[in-house]
Amino acid sequence: VGGGPVRWVQRSEVPADARFFGLGGRAAGPRLRDGVYGLWNTDPGGRFGPGDDPLSLTMPVQVVVSDAGTHLMFHDNSWAGRVVLREGEEGAGSGHDRPGACEVRMEGGPLRCWVVAGTPARVLQGWTALTGAPALPPSWALGPQHARWGFGNEEEVRRVVDGYRERGLPLSVLHLDIDHYDAHRVFTVDRARFPALPTLAKELREDGVRLVSIVDPAVKAEPGDAVFDAGAAVGERGAYVRDARGRVVVGEVWPGASVYPDFTDPLVRDWWGSLYEERLAQGFSGVWHDMNEPVSFAAFGDPSLPRSARHALEGVGGDHREAHNVYALAMARAGYEGLLRFRPEERPFLFSRSGWAGMQRYGGTWSGDVSTGWPGLRASLSLVVGLGLCGVPYSGPDVGGFDGFPSPELYLRWFQLGAYLPLFRTHAAIDAGRREPWEFGPEVLEHARAALVERERLRPYFVTLSQVARMTGAPYVRPMWWGAPGDRALRECEDAFLLGDALLVAPVLEAGTRRRAVRLPRGRWYDTATGRAYEGPGRVQVDAPLSRVPVLARAGAVIPVRGADGGPELEVWAPAPGCTGGGLVVRDPGDGWAEAAVERYVTRWEGDRVVVERDGAEGG
Ligand code: NOJ
Repeated sequence: VGGGPVRWVQRSEVPADARFFGLGGRAAGPRLRDGVYGLWNTDPGGRFGPGDDPLSLTMPVQVVVSDAGTHLMFHDNSWAGRVVLREGEEGAGSGHDRPGACEVRMEGGPLRCWVVAGTPARVLQGWTALTGAPALPPSWALGPQHARWGFGNEEEVRRVVDGYRERGLPLSVLHLDIDHYDAHRVFTVDRARFPALPTLAKELREDGVRLVSIVDPAVKAEPGDAVFDAGAAVGERGAYVRDARGRVVVGEVWPGASVYPDFTDPLVRDWWGSLYEERLAQGFSGVWHDMNEPVSFAAFGDPSLPRSARHALEGVGGDHREAHNVYALAMARAGYEGLLRFRPEERPFLFSRSGWAGMQRYGGTWSGDVSTGWPGLRASLSLVVGLGLCGVPYSGPDVGGFDGFPSPELYLRWFQLGAYLPLFRTHAAIDAGRREPWEFGPEVLEHARAALVERERLRPYFVTLSQVARMTGAPYVRPMWWGAPGDRALRECEDAFLLGDALLVAPVLEAGTRRRAVRLPRGRWYDTATGRAYEGPGRVQVDAPLSRVPVLARAGAVIPVRGADGGPELEVWAPAPGCTGGGLVVRDPGDGWAEAAVERYVTRWEGDRVVVERDGAEGG
């Protein structure tokens, strides 16, 4: 119409009892209440809480759950837009229900809408069949991780790793932020502060700790800079985003004046991917993509590229209004393919702040700069649940919050939640307080130790969950209604989650809580700390002392764990009388591409004994 983009609105009605979830990572969820949710990946600029929207990872994917059924709706359109949600109201038997409504308002692009309906498990299976199976993180990325913006230098990195080791605390990964770069320039190392990074990486690795590197998309705009020059020589016009008049767009990021590779161009992705060889040579085992909404610092207005900036868009051509939301997705593809090219025998490890529908093919995400405070803790859980429902199962928050100084209690409760999330990583800003578990006094240290030890004990379960996510699309972290979408009380329950089929985790999200209410799905559940059995559905009070958060196991569950000798063991919870149970176990196939065998176990009563059998295995 007149050559310009056609704006459109699609309005759908949902039943009065329906609840909305998803739309990427939303701080105010997981249940998305009445409001306007932006579809424009946005850096909140330092820290965010439940009131901030949109954040770094939006996507037009919503999961709607009602008595009538569950469906996922995907608008395959990357343009800027908004989703306006209004929950319905039931007329309390008067017969006058007011249905809920969802309006999708796009600034351009096609009305191309997919709907996947069925049980929640079926919906996620359909969704990942459409957009791709989640990348399988290597098992080491399912262990405890520590990051900080501003480690400063090699000595500080060693001091932190030694701090874990001396106290007997497990640590699997350490992340280096932009301060290890030379003057904040991507794909460089500050040799004064890290004189021998490959040696450091090798020694840490021998000690069981992998290094992960931050990678920012913006390149210092300076002829003579090796990365800048190489990008300028890509193809006929260079790798960098240009404006409508053909001039390279210059923004402002950590290195100062910066230019932006156009990842929507396959040639540019190919070049960018080739740069990861340098990261591997430095000894890094994985990458952490940041600032890729993409960000250009701005005193006011949108902190990104101008909407008129031009992009290749896979040869079709278009402007930033269409390319913005898929910029990080395309960067993830470039990074993933680059890592694969240079280390084909290992599965790449990548996670990215921004992204879009389908990013799970390349890796996971983390919650960005979540603000330090109890609302931030709650927002962290909301993001992980929502992203999982959008097909991105691997994520987690900055444990302790990104900014400021958490109280010892807040830090501990965050740590205890993080221990049950796929990405379990402490991280903080350069001017924030410390986040090492020993910085909050001896009591917190002991309880944090227990959380770390439990995480390591559950590592085989996390490996299984990662494989299940790959095979079926089911996220590790599932909303409470996952197995019972018809249970309205579970649809309203936002302060607990299911970890796979076997566990129910009820984190502490408020100060001073030592006992809390837990809403149970149908069936018998055991408090894993006390062994006490509870019958669902219903609401029970369980102890939540400072030493732990309540975790309940489903009766009949079979959970692969690491035994005291480090070898595999099965933890089995008795089925309810007269019932059976079971579970899947997928053993760690290593960091390569070997196909993992799925073992299925069943549990049942035989007289007064519980029998556990491997399904299909000769001899049981
Ligand atoms: C913003 C990221 O969200 C944060 O995690 C990181 O520490 C800073 N950028 C500095 O790189």
